[in-house]
Amino acid sequence: MRATLIDGKSLAATVRAAQRNAIDALAARGVRPGLAAILVGSDPASRVYVRTKARACEETGVRSEIHEFPDGVSEKALLERVAQLNADPRVHGILVQLPLPRQLDSNRVLEAVSPAKDVDGFHAMNLGALLQGRTGFVPGTPAGVMRMLEHAGVPLAGKNATIVGRSTIVGKPLALLLLQKDATVTICHSKTRDLAAVTRQADILIAAVGRAKLIHAGMVKPGACVIDVGTNRLADGKLAGDVDFESVSAVAASISPVPGGVGPMTVAMMIANTVRAAELSIG
Ligand code: GUN
Repeated sequence: MRATLIDGKSLAATVRAAQRNAIDALAARGVRPGLAAILVGSDPASRVYVRTKARACEETGVRSEIHEFPDGVSEKALLERVAQLNADPRVHGILVQLPLPRQLDSNRVLEAVSPAKDVDGFHAMNLGALLQGRTGFVPGTPAGVMRMLEHAGVPLAGKNATIVGRSTIVGKPLALLLLQKDATVTICHSKTRDLAAVTRQADILIAAVGRAKLIHAGMVKPGACVIDVGTNRLADGKLAGDVDFESVSAVAASISPVPGGVGPMTVAMMIANTVRAAELSIG
């Protein structure tokens, strides 16, 4: 049996189409949502991600601007720009593309973004709100994964949800969101003993480590739902997820692909956060 495909690309188009109604309502009140993306350095992947997000914004009706800085930019210069953007009424969302070059303290830069404009949900105030189960901005990737599970009709209450990867922008916030839905959550990482024994218990398995094809069929419980957050660039330039799609789709009940899975959902949820930030700015 082949697994059902969880098509993130098509769901993301639906999410973005739904934003257009909200954007029209804002236009009637004289507001156009605006996103400012800060891009530091020449990392090709970061440049592609920022351009993709800016294009998706424009296509959806959100104004976008990209603020580019060289690799060697000082923290002071970056913080000054963040302060300007915080004060700019045309900018409702600010995102700082990660990773930043090593001389910069990422946490200090992220904390400088106004929590009301933090559409990536990376500010401690928004991550803290998530921990407390209050409403704030939820990071796009975990929010997108939850939306995909909901759309696919995957039951969560009482189910074993296992996340491979403990990052602050995916693994940890996703664990909190799954807990809110009453899943029994396990987070695995590089020190986890017998990873396969743990992942084989998962009704919902989420791979977010950044190791191409780490998850193979022998690590997956038959009938599980598998969500692939990985975006790994192979030597031949092709994009590969953390999941070996071919072998795992013969075992899983449902699976998300790479590309065309979580990636487009991350962008769509960030845009939804920007529209919400614009709505909140006018009360
Ligand atoms: N780097 C990897 N993923 C992300 C993301 O979702 N947002 C930002 N700003 N940087 C990233």
